[in-house]
Amino acid sequence: MKLLIPGPVELDSTVSNAMAKPIMGHRTPIFSEILNECWSILKEIYNTRNDIALITGSGTSAMEAAVASVVKDSDEVVVIEGGKFGERFGEISEAFGAKVNTVPVEWGKSFTKEDVEKVVSDSNAKVITLTHNETSTGVIHNAEIVGKIAREYDMLFIMDAVTSLGGDVVETDKWGVDLCVSGSQKCLAAPPGLGFVAVSNKAYEAMENNQKRKAYYLDLLRYRKALKKETTPYTPSVSLIYGLNTALLRIKDEGINVRIERHRKLARVFREAVKAMNLELFADSSCASNTVTSIKIPEDMNDDDIRGNLLREFEILVAGGQAHVKGKIFRIGHMGNVQFGDIIQVLGAMEIILKRKGHSFKLGEGVKTALEEFL
Ligand SMILES: Cc1ncc(COP(=O)(O)O)c(C=O)c1O
Repeated sequence: MKLLIPGPVELDSTVSNAMAKPIMGHRTPIFSEILNECWSILKEIYNTRNDIALITGSGTSAMEAAVASVVKDSDEVVVIEGGKFGERFGEISEAFGAKVNTVPVEWGKSFTKEDVEKVVSDSNAKVITLTHNETSTGVIHNAEIVGKIAREYDMLFIMDAVTSLGGDVVETDKWGVDLCVSGSQKCLAAPPGLGFVAVSNKAYEAMENNQKRKAYYLDLLRYRKALKKETTPYTPSVSLIYGLNTALLRIKDEGINVRIERHRKLARVFREAVKAMNLELFADSSCASNTVTSIKIPEDMNDDDIRGNLLREFEILVAGGQAHVKGKIFRIGHMGNVQFGDIIQVLGAMEIILKRKGHSFKLGEGVKTALEEFL
């Protein structure tokens, strides 16, 4: 089956094979060497000099680690929403007792600087959160603006880069991201199950002053202490780290800028082809993601007509809409190792399905547009 969901993504066979290696002791110099190599490449991809906590847990564990380490009961947090994952930061903050001030954002669109500043200036929040690439809508947000606001108001900036890191530009230090969260199974094309948080000194200071923080396993100060000894605080998932290490070495071989350009080009090619098939994109063109594209399901069709047929006849798995856009959109992940051939494959399958359903467009127009755009 072909996975074109926005994570987990297909792994290169070298990555899968690496995970079959015998387990080694995690408190050994040789394992520290592997960890050090992972940290060093991750820092390049993150564009950061900050420490990176490597957590055995999915992306949400890293989101929780970021929030739980700096937020305590009754603190105020500004949460920029605009999709399922943006909202998740609010849910986590509330779980740790915070009062959430939301910046509502229409799904498929991005925020304005004024929207954010209004909520920030009306609050006493010391933390602001943003989902850089909102996977539920296929929108990439301008993180630099949020970084500037965070600096101006002396707030900690927590950013979810789960579906941007490794597929689009993430400038952790330049943008002033204090806690930059990501995960293994998306654009990095590593196995699911590892989370990362790049932590600034300002964030560490806030944790040291946050004696009432409610975290143990996910307390990022414990990760800092272990990092100094080139290890993790608890037994890490050794096999997943073998896989991550190999995936990161492959990214280094490709070159991070080349990789980002590949994602951008394939996203552009895909969007143009979709429009040529007389389908409507869900995300505004000014903020369309380079790693996931959301498409409106034509009014006379349902989710099963598209996704069900893609899976049954062509063995291609793509994602559906979430929450209030469930059944209204479908989403294609083009992240990680995705190549032009994968894009052509899904476009061809979509054309056949749409034609059979009587959708009005010229057969072959999507694939032709993709070829022309790629050229
Ligand atoms: C933007 C974003 N943030 C967070 C997550 C949560 O990651 P996980 O499912 O690995 O916990 C996802 C997963 O799809 C995501 O796309």
